[in-house]
Amino acid sequence: MSGSQDYDRPSIERTVRAGEIELHVAERGAGMPVVFVHGFPLDHTMWENQLCTLGENWRVIAPDLRGFGRSQAGTGAASMEAMADELAALLPALGIDEPIVLVGLSMGGYVAFQFWRKHRQLLRGLVLCDTRSIVDSAEAAAGRRKLAAQTLAEGPAPVAAGMLPKLFGPHTREHDPATIEATRQVILNTSPQGIAAALEGMAARPDATSYLAEIALPTLVVVGQDDAISSVDEMRTLAHGIKGSEFVVIPRSGHMTPLENPAEFNEALEQFLTRVERGGPKS
Ligand code: MLT
Repeated sequence: MSGSQDYDRPSIERTVRAGEIELHVAERGAGMPVVFVHGFPLDHTMWENQLCTLGENWRVIAPDLRGFGRSQAGTGAASMEAMADELAALLPALGIDEPIVLVGLSMGGYVAFQFWRKHRQLLRGLVLCDTRSIVDSAEAAAGRRKLAAQTLAEGPAPVAAGMLPKLFGPHTREHDPATIEATRQVILNTSPQGIAAALEGMAARPDATSYLAEIALPTLVVVGQDDAISSVDEMRTLAHGIKGSEFVVIPRSGHMTPLENPAEFNEALEQFLTRVERGGPKS
């Protein structure tokens, strides 16, 4: 996703088998593995800035989840659990044999909760960005299922029209329309089947609120000051639920913190990753 950002050192991109499907993966750098999981209905390109910047110090890896970007869609609903299992299967395929730091934004956070639930032995740290631990209300879940059917019938345009105003904060809308336009193009190029399957998967996702007190890993919780989907108050409550977690509010940002204010997002993440790498106590 290249809005106002240009990078002259591209990541390595390849397709890797993960369980029953093939996932497209971009990666850069060497050292402690840090896996970035994108939000809905996007792909790995939302992490371009982080791949470039944090790839100077760590092995940064950004897959396209099933049905997004250039990854295969598989069949049926894309449950958050299936996506987490595929990420776990990806690690040995990439030759990773040490615990990772998992960074998930929004839907990527839902996947991260399931990864923690099933594969926590593979984790060294957790970064939850602009996400939610609660389930959808019955009304919201019904709305997702309706949108899934509409997407299969009409393509991704209605999803783009519905999501874009909620993804970006006022500062980005005023100062960085190129990033919003680049995001629109990503959504419009996403497979309707992939979007519909993920909508079904999110509608059926488990409530992760009950897990929070059990998470005993270094955890960073990040939210944009103007996030219209997962508010600062909701994310603060989520952070309070995870003992010892760090909580950072990113200014001049809506829901898409890594894209809207990459400098401050990266700084918070870099400080956290440095502490995790040094093996400091859970802060
Ligand atoms: C996302 O950014 O991944 C979405 O806002 C998640 C959702 O629709 O719940």
